[in-house]
Amino acid sequence: MAIENILVIGAGTMGRQIAMSCALGGYATVLQDISEPALAAARTELESWAASRVAKGKLSQDAVDQALGLLSQTADLDAAARDADLVIEAAVERLDIKEEIFARLGKITAAHAILATNSSTLPSSKVAAASGRPAQVCNMHFFNPALVMKCVEIVRNDQTSDATVAAVTEVAQRLNKQPVLVNKEIPGFIANRMMGAINREALNLAQAGIASIVDIDTTARTALGHPMGPFELMDMVGLDVVDFIAQANYAETGNDADLPHPLIVEKVKEGKLGRKSGEGFYPYN
Ligand code: CAA
Repeated sequence: MAIENILVIGAGTMGRQIAMSCALGGYATVLQDISEPALAAARTELESWAASRVAKGKLSQDAVDQALGLLSQTADLDAAARDADLVIEAAVERLDIKEEIFARLGKITAAHAILATNSSTLPSSKVAAASGRPAQVCNMHFFNPALVMKCVEIVRNDQTSDATVAAVTEVAQRLNKQPVLVNKEIPGFIANRMMGAINREALNLAQAGIASIVDIDTTARTALGHPMGPFELMDMVGLDVVDFIAQANYAETGNDADLPHPLIVEKVKEGKLGRKSGEGFYPYN
C-alpha cells in the first residue's frame, strides 16, 4: 500500500518541521495539535522559513507554494486520522499520553495505516500493544532541526513487520533524509547514545575545571569537525530535554553513567534550559 497521506501529531519544535519535510517530499500532510495557538505559531514559523528559503535561492517559489498547499493543520484528531496512511506522533514525551494516542489511532485510522513515534526515549514497543496493530508500529526518530538534519533512525520493535520497515524507509528517502535501521530497541538508539557519551565527557571536563565550556566547544568544532560544541548543542536541544533523556535512559538501564549529570540538574533547577529560556550554558539575548 503506497503512502500518500501523512498525519503528524504535535506542532512543537519537532512536529512542525517534520510536517513541513513531509509536505516538501510531496505528501499530503496534516499537522494536528490540541492547541490552536501552537498550530498557528507553527504555520507562521514555517511560512517565514519558506520565505527565507526562497529569498536565499534555496527553494523555488513554486516548490514552497506546493509544499504549503499540501500542508494543512487541525485540532481535530479524528478528522485528521481518517485518510492517513502513516502517522508520525511527535507529541509530548509522556508514556500515558502516547499510550492514549496510540490506542485512539488504532481505532480511528484505516487498518493499513502505519503508526510511528518520533520519540527519542520511548521505544515503540511501549505503545505497540495499545494500538492493537503492533506489526505496523515503529519509531521514526528525526533530529533537531528536522528540516536540516538528514538522519532518521528507524527503530523496529520485536513485532514490527518487514513491510512496515520498508514503507517508512521509503518515506524517509522521499523526504531526502538518510534512514538508518536500528534492529533492536535500546535506550537512546544510536545517535543519543553517542551524543550522551560525548556530553558526559564534556560535562566531566568542565566540572573538573580542566577547560572552559568555550574551549571544550571550540575543541569539538575545530579538532573533531563537529558543527557545534556539546554545550552549544545541549543548549539548542534544551537542558530539560537532555535531563529527561538521561532520566529515561537511567530508568531503563539502571546504569549510573546514564544518570543526569549534576551540572545539568543544577541548570534545570535554576530554570536555565538553553536557548528557549534565554540562558543555558550560554546567554541568548
Ligand atoms: N530550523 C530550520 N533551519 C535551520 C535552523 C532551524 N532551527 N537552524 C539552522 N537552519 C538552517 C539554516 O537556514 C541554514 O540553511 P542553508 O545553509 O541552507 O541556508 C543551515 O541550517 C545552516 O544554518 P546556519 O548557517 O545558521 O548555522 P550553522 O551552519 O551553524 O548550522 C545547524 C546550524 C544546522 C544547527 C548546525 O550547527 C548543526 O548541524 N548542529 C548540530 C545539530 C545536531 O546535532 N542536531 C541533533 C540534536 S540531537 C536530537 O535532535 C535528538 C534528540 O532526541 C534530542
